[in-house]
Formats: sequence, C-alpha cells, structure tokens
Amino acid sequence: MPKPMFLQRSGILLLNDAGVFMIRPHDLVTYSMPQIRRASPVDIPAIVAIENESFADPWDQAVFLEALTYYPTTYFVAVCDGAVAGFIVGGLEDTGENIYGHLCNIGVSPRYRRRGIGKLLVRRTEHQFAMELATGVQLEVRVSNTGAQLFYQGIGYRPVFGIDQYYANGEDAFVMMKWFRF
Ligand SMILES: CC(C)(COP(=O)(O)OP(=O)(O)OC[C@H]1O[C@@H](n2cnc3c(N)ncnc32)[C@H](O)[C@@H]1OP(=O)(O)O)[C@@H](O)C(=O)NCCC(=O)NCCS
Repeated sequence: MPKPMFLQRSGILLLNDAGVFMIRPHDLVTYSMPQIRRASPVDIPAIVAIENESFADPWDQAVFLEALTYYPTTYFVAVCDGAVAGFIVGGLEDTGENIYGHLCNIGVSPRYRRRGIGKLLVRRTEHQFAMELATGVQLEVRVSNTGAQLFYQGIGYRPVFGIDQYYANGEDAFVMMKWFRF
C-alpha cells in the first residue's frame, strides 16, 4: 500500500511504519565535498568578499592578512569547485592555567550556506585546537544573530554569559563555549 506523503512548505512529510519523517529539498540534492585547507595570502580577496556579504561591520583586508601571521595553524578555507566558499579564523589563547581555542570569525558565502560547510570548518578547527592541547573553545555572537546561535548550538556550543555592548554599534554579545571531553 502506498505510504502517505504530505507536501509542506518546508518539504515532504512522509509517514511510514517507522515513524514520521520530513524530507527537505536540500536532503535530495548532492553537492561536491568541499576541501578544507589552511588559508594563504592568495585567499584573502575571496575571504574579504565573503566577509562583506556576511557582516554589516566587516573586518578589513589588513585584519585578515594579519591574522594569518598570528594564527597560521587554525585559519582555514573551504574550497568548492575550485572557489573559496567559506573561511574560519581560529586562535589559541593561553591563560597560564588553560589553553583554549577562540573562534574569531567564520563566514560561508550565501550561495553555499546550509550544505554543511560551516560545520566542517568548525570541526577542522576544533581538531587543530585539540591537537594543540586546548581544553575547550569560546566564541562571541551577536544577540540578534539567531541563525548563527542555532548553528553553534547544533554543534555543541552553549551560551555561558553575555557581554554588554560588545560590538561597535552597541549590540550585546553572547559568549558560547564547548568543552572537549578526552
Ligand atoms: C553561520 C554560518 C557560518 C553557517 O554556515 P553554513 O555552512 O550555512 O552551516 P551548515 O550548513 O554547516 O549548518 C549546519 C546546521 O546548523 C544549523 N543552521 C545553520 N545556519 C542556520 C540558520 N541560519 N538558521 C537556523 N539554523 C541554522 C542547521 O541546523 C544546519 O543544518 P541543516 O542545514 O541540515 O538544517 C553561515 O550562516 C554564515 O556565514 N553566516 C553569516 C556570518 C555569521 O553570522 N557568522 C557567525 C558570526 S558569530
């Protein structure tokens, strides 16, 4: 007997003996796997273009270049079909008592979002942090950036406290953290 299916705005709802499943359009599309590799100076123009598409208060080119000298091991790009589709800038911080990773900046080009690229970039950076003996990772996110908060929550980050007026326009930040379990 055919299984009941319901077309919904967000996808197809499928009912079968095992339960109820939602199949969304992007579940049916296959994309080529992005390559995650360390960033280099030639990537900076593409990184800056993604930054400008992603943020109202973008970092400028000099900051991205400088970050390459400070964080050469934890600064990555995602390359899809030969083009830079996303980047992540991570940094290691040593308080004397603890070493922890800091996710300083991440952006995925709007054309490439919701394909798992952001998750791959964070996972690669976390792996590097762990190899460099970090015990956890911290990041700041705008209170209004609910999309990014959901993204981070989905990969294990939890809000730990807020910082008033963290951003130049006076907006507050949530600090989110993830602790490694070894
Ligand atoms: C946040 C960002 C890096 C996520 O990159 P991405 O490649 O689209 O993320 P992924 O495809 O790996 O997302 C993994 C999961 O996170 C969640 N997620 C990602 N973006 C989301 C959004 N905007 N709203 C709700 N959930 C979201 C979803 O659960 C998603 O899985 P799904 O697509 O199967 O539902 C990207 O949206 C971006 O560049 N945003 C602008 C810059 C920014 O806000 N950076 C963070 C600053 S702190």
